[in-house]
Amino acid sequence: MAFNTTPLIPTFKRNAPRVSRHRPRLLCMTQAPVRFPNSTHVDRVQRTWQLVEPIKPQAGAIFYEFLFEKYPQVRSMFKSDMQEQQKRLIEMVDQGVKLLDQPDQLEPTLRALGKRHVRYRTQVEHYPAVKDTLMRALETALGEKTMDADARTAWSAVYDYWAGIMIDAMMECEEPGEGQNRV
Ligand code: HEM
Repeated sequence: MAFNTTPLIPTFKRNAPRVSRHRPRLLCMTQAPVRFPNSTHVDRVQRTWQLVEPIKPQAGAIFYEFLFEKYPQVRSMFKSDMQEQQKRLIEMVDQGVKLLDQPDQLEPTLRALGKRHVRYRTQVEHYPAVKDTLMRALETALGEKTMDADARTAWSAVYDYWAGIMIDAMMECEEPGEGQNRV
């Protein structure tokens, strides 16, 4: 599946092949190392996220409205109640932002989330679409003044870090006998 998006994540991830049942674990090692965002980025993301706190339900709704509007091809992957899904996504982003101070806790959480995404039939090339949508949802919710160039760079670094860990864990699922339920 190809998406017509601006290149938003590093080339190694954008060009990574689709996950296949036969992908050897070795491929994980060919990925560039996942980079932890710097302290300026962490601080900026944590400060902007605080502004989303009072409008979390709206932010979740905007996110999925934007996602399905621009990428209707992923709509059928979402089978659960969408209000629940909105809450789960926002709670995970909340955790992902707050636990940037505790990567030892955050990374296993993201790895487990990445592995669950194999069951949801998520492909590596879906990640830029979700990034694009998250950025647009934040810009809409917070306004361009808050989501200025520095804030966008900070969120971009944090998203790439989350996605890098999730994708790495997703690749690890490609062991014989795992991840049956995929394209
Ligand atoms: C940083 C990126 C992402 C985050 C933080 C995230 C977060 C979540 C969370 C918290 C859930 C709830 C279920 C669970 O905890 O296992 C979920 C489910 C799901 N996500 Fe993601 N996700 C991300 C990327 C993606 C991408 C790239 C796709 C591809 C379209 C995707 C598709 C789905 C689907 C299909 C479900 C299941 C919905 C259902 O049960 O109906 N996610 N995601």
